[in-house]
Amino acid sequence: MNEFGGDWTENKIEIIVEYAKAYLNIMNVYAVKYSWKLLYFDGFAGSGFIIKGKDENQKIIVGAAKRILEIEEPRPFDLFYFVEKDELNANHLEENTKKLYPNKNVHVVKEDCNDKIKSMSQFLTTSKGKKHKVLAYIDPCGMQLNWNSLQTLQKLSVDVWILVPTGMGVNRLLKKDSNISEAWVSRLEVFLGMEKQEILNHFYKQTINHTLFGDETIVSKEDKAIEKSAVLYKERLSSLFNFVSEPYILKNKSNSVMFHFFMASNNKTAVKIANEIIAKYNKQR
Ligand SMILES: C[S@@+](CC[C@H](N)C(=O)[O-])C[C@H]1O[C@@H](n2cnc3c(N)ncnc32)[C@H](O)[C@@H]1O
Repeated sequence: MNEFGGDWTENKIEIIVEYAKAYLNIMNVYAVKYSWKLLYFDGFAGSGFIIKGKDENQKIIVGAAKRILEIEEPRPFDLFYFVEKDELNANHLEENTKKLYPNKNVHVVKEDCNDKIKSMSQFLTTSKGKKHKVLAYIDPCGMQLNWNSLQTLQKLSVDVWILVPTGMGVNRLLKKDSNISEAWVSRLEVFLGMEKQEILNHFYKQTINHTLFGDETIVSKEDKAIEKSAVLYKERLSSLFNFVSEPYILKNKSNSVMFHFFMASNNKTAVKIANEIIAKYNKQR
């Protein structure tokens, strides 16, 4: 069972479930008309259940994978593809999904999400694959999603929800004085799909101090780096997809922003619906 989750965990799941129902409602008509198959892809699928909180405040939440599998109205998905890298979680997930729903077409794979996004993209370009329309949910706990994996989805019929660790990930790696270790720089580069210098130019400013012994250049981090990283990621997504939603903003109990949750698609109506759902949940906070 996965052990994580702040107050946002339930909302994130409610958002993806609500969107999935709207998606199935709209796509149902076309799926019948054009013999499309509707595929649900979950790249960081977890174990099936999430443990939230500690001791007497502990709560067990049904994970997104099971919630999506349980959708019958307006119709179920034709195919479920769950990716989970951790062996124990993947075994639990198999018990909680494939074994519990033998009549549904469920695949559980113990692999890296990045590899499976790339193989799905390849499949979607084949003549069989073109008959598949995808709703994808990318829900990592950190910065495990590589930009070059997302790039492969460009121009494909995929509506993708992505949890971006703006506060939890990007901001924590951006050290105040720009003295970032090579390992962290490389993680930022792979995650954002940008070169070191572009990243530094985006998040740091230089000021000149005139001292008695000459000028000193001071490098410091720009204010509001979390918000800046959300705007940047939205711009990056807009370079791949025609439409990107506003984010659902996930904050912890101390009101610090941890993640931004975006939806990207090549379909305008899809993003309009996503924005309506997101606005509702952002208001509820
Ligand atoms: C936030 S949890 C997912 C929760 C899940 N969406 C749910 O609703 O229950 C992230 C999961 O991704 C898995 N994971 C981490 N890195 C991964 C990777 N590179 N590829 C696939 N799964 C990964 C972790 O083991 C963890 O179970």
